[in-house]
Amino acid sequence: MQRHPLARILHWSIAGLVLGALASGYAITHEEGFSLALLRVHLALGAAAGGLTLIRVMLWMTKGAPESVFVLTSRIEVAASRIVHITLRLMPLLLLASGIGMLVLSGKAEALLDGTLSGLSAFETLPPRKLHHAAAFLLAALTLLHALAAIKHRLQAPRRLGKA
Ligand code: HEM
Ligand code: HEM
Repeated sequence: MQRHPLARILHWSIAGLVLGALASGYAITHEEGFSLALLRVHLALGAAAGGLTLIRVMLWMTKGAPESVFVLTSRIEVAASRIVHITLRLMPLLLLASGIGMLVLSGKAEALLDGTLSGLSAFETLPPRKLHHAAAFLLAALTLLHALAAIKHRLQAPRRLGKA
């Protein structure tokens, strides 16, 4: 698949939403006191990231991966880039599924909507919560690695002509 403007728009929209979902997610669990407004912001950002990711994954499955912007020189680099990109493409879907799983299993979706949810204790013992935390940590670590690799390539490697 050529690096179509849609692929670029999807990439930067998902990147912004994922960074917002990570920041708000860690803020709701690590700040003193529970904020329902922040949890709602988190859900909105996370759901939007998951929804756009679904479109990206469908494009990837039907049209293949967008062509790489950078010229990768070694086989290890090519393999590492492929593994990281595949994981980055799938992880927001796992977060969407585990997030919805927490809401459904806890039975707290209604309390969230009508504003009576008063804390995160209802989610504490649920299996999707562990999965959600692990997936969020992996996504944060890989995003950092991915952004550092992009900066390194932008500084060092020649770029394909005419690509963004
Ligand atoms: C935070 C700052 C980010 C920067 C600076 C950045 C930069 C880039 C660059 C320069 C490329 C092109 C690399 C190539 O073609 O080989 C790229 C591709 C890609 N990035 Fe990012 N990225 C960021 C965040 C993210 C996030 C948060 C995700 C996923 C949740 C992500 C997922 C991807 C994927 C899957 C590709 C492969 C091309 C595609 O499918 O669109 N990136 N990124
Ligand atoms: C890309 C999407 C998402 C990302 C990156 C993300 C990230 C995070 C992070 C970093 C945390 C805190 C984890 C920790 O403290 O270790 C969190 C918690 C949480 N997230 Fe998400 N999330 C996403 C989507 C969603 C969605 C779609 C929902 C619900 C439908 C959701 C519901 C929750 C809930 C209820 C918590 C609190 C769980 C607890 O008791 O610790 N998240 N999320």
